Amino acid sequence: MKIIFVAVTSLDGKMTRGDSPLVHEWSSDEDAFHFLQTRNEHSLIVMGSGTYDIVKPLAEKARLRIVLTSKPERYANEMVPGQIEFSKESPAELVERLEDLGYEQMLLVAGQKVTTEFFKENLITEVWLTIEPKIFGAGNALVIERMEVDLQLLSIEKLNEQGTILLKYRVVGIN
Ligand SMILES: NC(=O)c1ccc[n+]([C@@H]2O[C@H](COP(=O)([O-])OP(=O)(O)OC[C@H]3O[C@@H](n4cnc5c(N)ncnc54)[C@H](OP(=O)(O)O)[C@@H]3O)[C@@H](O)[C@H]2O)c1
Repeated sequence: MKIIFVAVTSLDGKMTRGDSPLVHEWSSDEDAFHFLQTRNEHSLIVMGSGTYDIVKPLAEKARLRIVLTSKPERYANEMVPGQIEFSKESPAELVERLEDLGYEQMLLVAGQKVTTEFFKENLITEVWLTIEPKIFGAGNALVIERMEVDLQLLSIEKLNEQGTILLKYRVVGIN
């Protein structure tokens, strides 16, 4: 399974601005457009429950969204089989099951906990990272454990005049 981790951070690597969970308050319109395009190209999206609770994406026949949560039963009324599902599987178990179902590519729209778990299990193939020209000093880091991930740059794109940059990397190895 090819797994693309897509995220937007500040220049100092924060996925959130301090304690606020609302990423779209500070990320650029150009990043929102890039994310929308990327999302539309994917039929399988995985996210954490925090992101789901904020975004509450509508169920779409065109794609399956899987929300990772330790309490799937909490979301029983929101499940739409084949469109929005809730799971407490580990990343490796989830990926194996989805591969068995025939999925070949996943878009991972994850915060720091889920991202850390996917990296630790060496499941991420590419990182598509938008860097906004902002410094927050406080907020969620990309990952929350010590690790060393080596990456190879695939492309650099300047998204706007202010200097929002989209970087695409391939994961080379993890120690
Ligand atoms: N800047 C960006 O690109 C970006 C991207 C995504 C999210 N965010 C932000 O990051 C913040 C955190 O988002 P998030 O909570 O979605 O982060 P996350 O790290 O993706 O998800 C964390 C949640 O996922 C569940 N989880 C984690 N590991 C699990 C496992 N092995 N099995 C089952 N469930 C597991 C837990 O949900 P339960 O608590 O329900 O058990 C946990 O609270 C939010 O403010 C969000 O807006 C930023």
